[in-house]
Amino acid sequence: MEVPEPLTNLKIQYTKIFINNEWHNSVSGKKFPVINPATEEKICDVEEGDKEDVDKAVKAARQAFQLGSPWRTMDASERGQLLNKLADLMERDRLLLATMEALNAGKIFANAYLMDLRLSANIIRYYASWTDKIQGRTIPIDGKFFTYTRHEPIGVCGQILPWNFPLVVTVVKMAPALCCGNTVVIKPAEQTPLTILYLASLIKEAGFPPGVVNIVPGYGPTAGAAISSHMDIDKVSFTGSTEVGLLIKQAAGKSNLKRVTLELGGKSPCIVFADADLDSAVETAHQGLFFHQGQCCIAASRLFVEESIYDEFVRKSVERAKKYTLGNPLKPGILQGPQIDKEQYNKILDLIESGKKEGAKLECGGGPWGDKGFFIQPTVFSNVTDGMRIAKEEIFGPVQQIMKFKTIDEVIKRANNTHYGLSGAVFTKDLDKALTVSSALQVGTVWVNCYGVNSCQAPFGGFKMSGNGREMGENGLHEYIEVKTVTIKVSEKNS
Ligand code: NAI
Ligand code: MG
Repeated sequence: MEVPEPLTNLKIQYTKIFINNEWHNSVSGKKFPVINPATEEKICDVEEGDKEDVDKAVKAARQAFQLGSPWRTMDASERGQLLNKLADLMERDRLLLATMEALNAGKIFANAYLMDLRLSANIIRYYASWTDKIQGRTIPIDGKFFTYTRHEPIGVCGQILPWNFPLVVTVVKMAPALCCGNTVVIKPAEQTPLTILYLASLIKEAGFPPGVVNIVPGYGPTAGAAISSHMDIDKVSFTGSTEVGLLIKQAAGKSNLKRVTLELGGKSPCIVFADADLDSAVETAHQGLFFHQGQCCIAASRLFVEESIYDEFVRKSVERAKKYTLGNPLKPGILQGPQIDKEQYNKILDLIESGKKEGAKLECGGGPWGDKGFFIQPTVFSNVTDGMRIAKEEIFGPVQQIMKFKTIDEVIKRANNTHYGLSGAVFTKDLDKALTVSSALQVGTVWVNCYGVNSCQAPFGGFKMSGNGREMGENGLHEYIEVKTVTIKVSEKNS
């Protein structure tokens, strides 16, 4: 597909809190700045939501969820039509949304246009087609009874978002929630509220009843915590750090035991055997780590390479990592944009320093780039050992760690020796090895001879401390459904 030029006259129209299909100022009167990470310049100010604003949004969402409301009495198929309409509108405004996403999130424009926008519309359409196919069962229980199950919406769902895939993660959470008939209160990451507020305008235009979708921009410890500890929110879904994931679950436990779905960090092993197609493995592992400046939960950040091909693999990986042109992601020809903010930039530079100090071999990069914007040179470390911080901690930056292994048993043990369990990959031409490793890895997703292939039809989520629950696919629906069992006494039962 051909990629158009990004918009040059982008106007930011929507900067307020979206409740009941209306735009609100914050109760406190506060606003916060939204920054372009490529230039460090302010794009605009956005109304800063806090507890009082979340309360207002929850009231609206609760009202929209009342029995007899337009949303509750709507045919399931009509919910699907509304979702399809929303996808149509996103496609109509694809160029605007892709430009805004690139500007606000530091995304390479072509990636935003081709990947984020396409995936977002696909996810919405996928769940649009599920609305009238969510079915309970009739169950032959013992005795003279007729029993069936109803798959009902849970209620008001809080959704707390990260900044790395603002639109994609919004629809990953919002579309299945709406598909099942829930109402939502969404908190975008403070760094990246703009495309999500624009999406709010499309939700209104599509014709969703007021209160079904509410969007409260703001910070984590204030607006975010107000959601996770709210007594009238029935479920919370979060994507972000494992550290905050722990807080969200505690807040649920300390408030009303709301249901919790978590998509957290990762330190994904990528295992390359000597028999793999070397060039393809180098390129795929490279993309698996460097895509979107390394800011992906699934980043292939522990690369294990079999001893006999190690030196050649490192040499080719370094050659590949040196091919980048850094700069403003809205400009043509730019292949790597900025990290999202100063905090992430500092965290990554600190981890790079730790790698140097702990004795890893810096093959290329290793420092900041440019004089403004949060850019970091593409960095490759070889001779990395499992105890180093760069081999244990989620870096979330353009920093590749290459380790060496000798045997399959050894590499499986080392790959699983982490509290993370999001994803992993294996590169080999030997089917037996591929199957052995893919069943042994304690992760939610395994890729064989490929990496990062995610699609709306297949479930995605973490083992261990990488999360709870699954998103996307049919499994993603189960996180937005309560199962109700109804049993009716009958006078006669015939099998
Ligand atoms: P974070 O986990 O602090 O932020 C993610 C979201 O949680 C934001 O909307 C934030 O406002 C909210 N939040 C923060 N504190 C909260 C609280 N106490 N209660 C409720 N919500 C809260 O992530 P951050 O600081 O942006 O990045 C830190 C690290 O997290 C990254 O370096 C990376 O390792 C990881 N991360 C993982 C992501 C993933 O895709 N799984 C996405 C973003 C970050
Ligand atoms: Mg944080």
